Amino acid sequence: MKILLIGSGGREHALAWKLAQSEQVTSIYVCPGNAGTADEEKCQNIELTDIPEMVAFAKEYAIDITVVGPEALLVEGIADAFEAEELRIFAPKQAAAQLEGSKAYSKKFMQKHGVRTAKYKSFIDLCHASDYLNMVQYPVVIKASGLAAGKGVLICPTQKEAEAALHDMLTMGKFGEAGSEVVIEEFLHGVEASILSVCDGHSILPFISAKDHKKIGEGETGLNTGGMGVVAPNPYVSEAIWQDFQQNIALPTLQGIQAEGLDFKGVIFFGLMITEDGCYCLEYNTRFGDPETQAVLPLLKTDLVDIIEACLNETLNTIQPEWQPAHSCCVVAAAGGYPESYQKGMEIQVDPAFDQHLFFAGAKKDHGKTITSGGRVLNVIAQADNLENARNAAYNAMNHISFETMYFRKDIGL
Ligand code: AMP
Ligand code: GLY
Repeated sequence: MKILLIGSGGREHALAWKLAQSEQVTSIYVCPGNAGTADEEKCQNIELTDIPEMVAFAKEYAIDITVVGPEALLVEGIADAFEAEELRIFAPKQAAAQLEGSKAYSKKFMQKHGVRTAKYKSFIDLCHASDYLNMVQYPVVIKASGLAAGKGVLICPTQKEAEAALHDMLTMGKFGEAGSEVVIEEFLHGVEASILSVCDGHSILPFISAKDHKKIGEGETGLNTGGMGVVAPNPYVSEAIWQDFQQNIALPTLQGIQAEGLDFKGVIFFGLMITEDGCYCLEYNTRFGDPETQAVLPLLKTDLVDIIEACLNETLNTIQPEWQPAHSCCVVAAAGGYPESYQKGMEIQVDPAFDQHLFFAGAKKDHGKTITSGGRVLNVIAQADNLENARNAAYNAMNHISFETMYFRKDIGL
């Protein structure tokens, strides 16, 4: 089996590593890939610039399955383009990807189908949005509806800040088209959980839970990032929360997907807030999470290709994935300055004593060296029989890696 894997992050390195373990897989083309996928068994990095080129490549190389990482391509309609040419792709169609691509759409979907979520209203007009600010409690959450690379959500402590956020998005065009519609949402107190799941349109199969640490600073301070570390399973997801999630979030989401006639053969990732009144759905992503994937996949014993095949064949109900009964901890190392401006091109050194999983992200090969090429540079992942041992193993291994300005949080999983 030949696979085309699209993306260049730590998530894609983890996917390439996991897919390469399948005996069914002979080769994996990673577009564009990174320093990690360049060295991974059975993998080869390739450059393709747009969806038509990807379709042409998949035809020419007789690719059996295409797996997509980044959300922008899903919203652009990559699944529709591949399926029009009868190419198999593990990704939701454009209409279904709106569950991630438009928060106004996804909130309406949740409300209509009884998925438990925070109260909200959406607006395209500044006057109406401002009026509504007189009726809400503070803090309030203001979200750009469209894709904004995780930066389009603002928690506003006062009405003044909320007014400013609305003005920035609706009048000044901050976030461009993505901010031309806004969601104003009730603030929920609690702890977050990420649940990656796969869906074939007939059932949703949740993977083990994970806990992302989104802020740049220790103690959840400072700016939001793509994610600075993850532990799995999430220690806050008790059996009762899991049942609550299944009943009040996963099941009505599946019923909604069916009622709306969405073609969904791919990943649905639930961003949850666990509150005193149970868990709420904050958002959907229609792709693998990053860095959740890096922490979760090493615990999956089942062949990922079997799970993907079951989604594509609409036989997901026959799959019972096996998980290692262990804890996983992923720590992200970033370039100093991230998520604001940062330097690139620093050489990454990994000394031979490094003994855990290393998934590269913003890193590339350059004349035989591995150099940084992005903000989040690499992920170190360790598994152990309990969370504390997994944390210690990941942090001990991190001591064997260095590059100039390297920064990582010391409190992942605490
Ligand atoms: P989202 O992209 O909708 O998941 O929002 C990004 C982040 O903003 C979430 O991971 C939460 O940390 C925070 N957030 C979003 N919505 C809310 C809410 N209603 N209450 C509290 N925090 C929120
Ligand atoms: N780690 C959150 C995300 O992938 O969106």
